[in-house]
Amino acid sequence: MFKPETYISRRNALRAELSSGIAIFPGNTEASFNYPANTYHFRQDSTFSYFFGLNQPDLAGIIDIDKGQDILFGNDVDMDDIIWMGPQPSIADRGSLAGISHTQQLAAFDEYIKDALSNGREVHFLPPYRGETKIQLSELLGIAVKDLKASASVELIKGVVKLRSIKSEEEIAEIEKMVDVAYLMHTTAMKMAHPGIVEQEIAGTVEGIALANAGPVSFPVILSINGQTLHNHYHGNTLTEGRMMVVDCGCESEETLYSSDITRTVPVGGRFSQRQKEIYEIVLKANLNAIEAIKPGIKYREVHMLAARTIAEELTKLGLMKGNPADAVAAGAHALFFPHGLGHMMGMDVHDMENLGENYVGYDEETVRATQFGTAFLRLGRTLQPGFVLTVEPGIYFIPALIDQWKAEGKYTEFINYEKVETYKDFGGIRIEDDVLVTVTGNRVLGKPIPKTVAEIEELMKR
Ligand code: GLY
Repeated sequence: MFKPETYISRRNALRAELSSGIAIFPGNTEASFNYPANTYHFRQDSTFSYFFGLNQPDLAGIIDIDKGQDILFGNDVDMDDIIWMGPQPSIADRGSLAGISHTQQLAAFDEYIKDALSNGREVHFLPPYRGETKIQLSELLGIAVKDLKASASVELIKGVVKLRSIKSEEEIAEIEKMVDVAYLMHTTAMKMAHPGIVEQEIAGTVEGIALANAGPVSFPVILSINGQTLHNHYHGNTLTEGRMMVVDCGCESEETLYSSDITRTVPVGGRFSQRQKEIYEIVLKANLNAIEAIKPGIKYREVHMLAARTIAEELTKLGLMKGNPADAVAAGAHALFFPHGLGHMMGMDVHDMENLGENYVGYDEETVRATQFGTAFLRLGRTLQPGFVLTVEPGIYFIPALIDQWKAEGKYTEFINYEKVETYKDFGGIRIEDDVLVTVTGNRVLGKPIPKTVAEIEELMKR
């Protein structure tokens, strides 16, 4: 946990964003895996953690805007709990860690809310994403589960997004530690990426590095020689010469929950073929051009479009695309190869605050989400501010089913050289991703640099 002052000042900052009423923050409970007592690894709700810092199940918090007080709710343990879990701090002690002097047992959370409702006070809540919390809120507030998302407080969502979007020095330090663990995960994966090894062996090793050095992986490890499938979680292939291995993974701090999210793509065996090198250099150029453009005041959608133009220009030079690259990008033809967004906000959630609504996090009144295939998937489009942490992850993929569909439909024949694209259907995909902080003057790539150029990767993988 950070010092109590951090949580006090975050709660005070939120109070200033809300006009009246109470804001309620149910922490996460344990979630069962295959029978009630066998639970998933406990993961606290990120917003609860942001304002209250505590990383145990069955806690809840209320920020009372009208009364100017914060209350932490949770049960003191009994002898049964002590026998199974060991001695635990009292709820009053946990409260003091978060800078809270008002603590009550968990049952009082419901009473506080019922009392507020019966007095006609506004009860602000965030859209719940877990079944347990949906049931809890539905029963407490008398709102059908299906209507909870639409009934959530937009004022609270916007206030939370405003605060959590700007990372403080202590948050940046936590993220950077996680990127440094990702360095170990990725360099180990690179060294293991030789013919004959099964993807599972590398994926398991990488996950173990996360657990041994930080905490759980921040999302299920994406690792595959079939990188043309963007989020490939199948790890049963044996690595063979001629394929490229995409590894997209990161970890999160067990205690504070800040994350990392890095992607590297390497040639199995450690030497790029000419064809691999040509495509790799294009993705790298898109990654570097995008990073160079990141600064306060620029819209991330512009940076995304810059990466798309880089890809289209270079694929045109290579003969996979044709015509005017700027026109091709404006029409959306590049999305055959780059069918996703350049990146997303990152923080306590690897897609930061996505549970609050992607458009509240990534868009605003002046930047409305595009509808065109490819650009529509960009999670962050709005103007960048110092303190944002975001991912930069361009890619080029040869997705046989998509190529077949577009070709059959005669799509963008003025911009795509389908005859040549056909010869790349066995290529796979390449993605290169870094975690970047927007600074007052520009940006800073976080963490220890992870090999990224052709020469750096070939050097590291040399046996
Ligand atoms: N790196 C995985 C994701 O952004 O979804």
